[in-house]
Amino acid sequence: MTPKNNKNEPEELIDPISERPGFHETESRIAVFGHPIHAMSVAFPVALTFCVLGADALYWWTGDVFWARAALWAAGTGFMFGMLAGLSGTAELLLVSGIRSRAPAWTHFIIAVTLLALLGANWGYRLYGYEQAVLPYGILLSGLCVLVVSFTGWHGGKLVFDYRLGTSKGN
Ligand code: HEM
Repeated sequence: MTPKNNKNEPEELIDPISERPGFHETESRIAVFGHPIHAMSVAFPVALTFCVLGADALYWWTGDVFWARAALWAAGTGFMFGMLAGLSGTAELLLVSGIRSRAPAWTHFIIAVTLLALLGANWGYRLYGYEQAVLPYGILLSGLCVLVVSFTGWHGGKLVFDYRLGTSKGN
């Protein structure tokens, strides 16, 4: 039931979060000539995460140790680039008031940190023997990383295309 005021008219509900000063300030601050660094840097961890699964599958198929070594390098560089992308994203989240005050931005942060933990585990596990690590746990971990990176990327796109976070307002 809609709350009524003294005159028995329906009361206009006010969202206290959207009333905050700075709620509409969503333009990227961590940017090069207005282009958000986070959006530019996420392509690397996303692609490398898929490369690890591809290299694991090729090792399983061919038995060639080259692919196990390729998976180790893709896992390590994917994790490092993921951390760099995470740093730019976190700076954006903390510094831009309109991003900081929106719950979906924090949801993205939680999903992304889960992903970074998985990417780190997938790399660290291989450091103790990259060939033996692939089957079965390495490839299973790589499959999980692909699922989580896909979800993270999809959700990041939602922040930009649905909530317009990080975008310039236009004229
Ligand atoms: C760990 C902390 C992270 C935070 C706080 C964060 C925050 C954000 C924010 C605020 C945006 C909106 C655009 C902008 O302002 O730049 C965004 C977009 C996005 N994020 Fe993240 N992010 C994080 C990590 C990641 C990671 C690790 C990935 C994937 C590897 C990722 C994938 C994306 C994608 C794909 C977009 C959409 C970019 C576009 O379509 O232009 N994020 N993120």
